[in-house]
Amino acid sequence: MRVIIADNYEAMSKKAAEIVAKTVMEKPDCVLGLATGSTPIGLYKELIRMHKQQGLDFSKVRTFNLDEYYGLPPEHPQSYYYFMYENLFKHINIPLQNVNVPSGLVKDVKAYCLHYEEMIKQAGGIDIQVLGIGGDGHIGFNEPGSSLGSRTRLKTLTEQTVKDNSRFFERIEDVPRFAITMGVGTIMEARKCLLLANGTKKANVVAQAIEGPVTAQVTASVLQLHPDCVAIVDQEAAAELKRKEYYTYVERMSQQFDKV
Ligand code: F6R
Repeated sequence: MRVIIADNYEAMSKKAAEIVAKTVMEKPDCVLGLATGSTPIGLYKELIRMHKQQGLDFSKVRTFNLDEYYGLPPEHPQSYYYFMYENLFKHINIPLQNVNVPSGLVKDVKAYCLHYEEMIKQAGGIDIQVLGIGGDGHIGFNEPGSSLGSRTRLKTLTEQTVKDNSRFFERIEDVPRFAITMGVGTIMEARKCLLLANGTKKANVVAQAIEGPVTAQVTASVLQLHPDCVAIVDQEAAAELKRKEYYTYVERMSQQFDKV
């Protein structure tokens, strides 16, 4: 895993945007895997800036989001569709028919999840998957204990995730208890993964994911097995990494190569 330690949230977001933009420029009809939550907001802001100021073109890009709360309609202010629309899609030139966020309203969940997987396959697979990490080590909503080979399905959220995400809702009782999420196996099929983390609260789980054993108890740790995963973390989130100096040294040394 390539580990980039950025000075702060802004630098983390800029570096992530540089990597995503490179994919979009090299392959204008690329497939982006996207995440919601607080972490990627800076990345999306930077992509919007690049679109507005530098003409970064999303007209042929297709996107698949990792997850959606089960039970929330797309127009619900806390739904992930709404989040994506407000924080990215409405500000760039992506046709809305090119964007895919799992539906939180489907009745036949199993059939729908198979369909979501099929749509990703039909699109040619995900070129780059943006990921945040939950306080319990989840990627997508793959909570501890999720099979490392899991596919898109309905998951029950842990108490910790419900608590972590209650900051977006008026009352904790309003936080949905279920979500449809891409599986760990689905995520691992992306050609490239981009894991982002910032803030002191993530320091311990980031160290577990990057340097701990690969375990279904911290689903982000499976990214150690991914052939092309870049983790970009800010100084605070990097605080508990044992090999921090080495990662910084590697990045400095690699500047002599053409590496974004
Ligand atoms: C969101 C998602 C989650 C978040 C994670 C971190 O689509 O899949 O795994 O990335 O819960 O959330 P934040 O960024 O709010 O700390």
